[in-house]
Amino acid sequence: MAMKTLVLFYSWSGNTRRIAKSIAQKTGADLFELQPKTPYPDNYNTVVAQAKQEIQRRYEPPLLPVSVDWSAYDTVYLGTPNWWSTMAPPLYAFLREVMPTDKTIIPFCTHGGGGSGKIAKDIATLCIGCDVLPIFSIQDDGGAGMEQKLEDWLKRIDQP
Ligand SMILES: Cc1cc2nc3c(=O)[nH]c(=O)nc-3n(C[C@H](O)[C@H](O)[C@H](O)COP(=O)(O)O)c2cc1C
Repeated sequence: MAMKTLVLFYSWSGNTRRIAKSIAQKTGADLFELQPKTPYPDNYNTVVAQAKQEIQRRYEPPLLPVSVDWSAYDTVYLGTPNWWSTMAPPLYAFLREVMPTDKTIIPFCTHGGGGSGKIAKDIATLCIGCDVLPIFSIQDDGGAGMEQKLEDWLKRIDQP
């Protein structure tokens, strides 16, 4: 069977979406955006407070149906913003549900200056049995140098 690659991500304010779209475009991968059934509030301070609670409680927000055939992919780029030094709850909920095994997982994140925090470790914990590559992280939407940084990274990890 042909190898298939997916870029699966959550994004609240668009930065991770920008990176995800560019990865999909550069690698020819399919693209899917996770969305919670109840969208997070638009207000920054409100979402920061809500996220803190959810992460502390390990809350798994219900998601809108995931309309991709997860089993068809052997390589998955997993993207999330850094929320309180870990992945955003929608990605956490998804990984808890599917508990991936036997895939190559390539995590990436965007952040506001704090780097990737514990995201790589937390993803690896939920992807036991997968080959998890080192995380790629970029600040905010990566600015003008984003495309080049992505290309350098993709070359480094020998993808696509
Ligand atoms: C709820 C919340 C928590 C955040 N926590 C952190 C953090 O711990 N460290 C950090 O560097 N940035 C933090 N940020 C900033 C985001 O990681 C950053 O803006 C990211 O690029 C947003 O991605 P998005 O546009 O895809 O949602 C936080 C943002 C939000 C909304």
